[in-house]
Amino acid sequence: MKPIVAGNWKMNKTVDEGVSFVNEVKNRILDKDSAEVIFCPPFTSLFSIANLLDNSPFYLGAQNVHHEIQGAYTGEVSIQMLKSLSVDYVILGHSERRTIFGESGEFVRDKINTVLNQGIKPILCIGEALDERRSGQTEKVLQKQLEQSLNGISGINGDNFLLAYEPIWAIGTGNTATEVQVAEAHAKIRSMVGNMLGKNGQNIPILYGGSVNVDNAGSLIDTNGVDGFLIGGASLDIESFCKIIELVTDNIKRG
Ligand code: PGA
Repeated sequence: MKPIVAGNWKMNKTVDEGVSFVNEVKNRILDKDSAEVIFCPPFTSLFSIANLLDNSPFYLGAQNVHHEIQGAYTGEVSIQMLKSLSVDYVILGHSERRTIFGESGEFVRDKINTVLNQGIKPILCIGEALDERRSGQTEKVLQKQLEQSLNGISGINGDNFLLAYEPIWAIGTGNTATEVQVAEAHAKIRSMVGNMLGKNGQNIPILYGGSVNVDNAGSLIDTNGVDGFLIGGASLDIESFCKIIELVTDNIKRG
């Protein structure tokens, strides 16, 4: 499986800024076969960036979607709208959506259902808060988030679904999880997913997210069970983002 480098821009970059960033990445990353690069800009830039990605091996992700297909939901965006822009992925269950916007596990589950039904791939984020880690609750929290998110959904497999382990205490803080913590969490998630989905769960890529940067990306991609990254801050900076893609690519070349 190709390693995955997804950039979650969050609420950053205007359309012009986003377009020139993506053009620059396209110019700089010449080895386009070795990593799967996913740009997740704000909704406002999806249309313009989709046009740049026609015939390119880069992919497009949205940062959210509503679970209903259409209707009176002021301010929301539907999966059909994203589909019409050739969006490949949708980030769901990000801790910022869960904590700041109060999205429950059940709500995340409904969104996953809608996204999968339309043939688009969810990137489901799960992760524990610092107090949960400190009180030994990490495994329980991850298990609960997975159960709530996947409850009653069928047809999930490694070709249509991505997971991202994002410990909340590592997001945007500069406190990256250690390689041991990451390896341990990814192994637990892999076994939980195996228990829930059987063979179908085996090949679901598990990304790591939380203060990934040029200094830690090389060792993190070497860590057992890490299939790629979901990157916030460092995905906004052209030097960092391209360097991380190169580090991930070097890792595959070394085998
Ligand atoms: P960060 O964000 O890389 O800035 O920590 C990661 C994320 O929120 O997906």
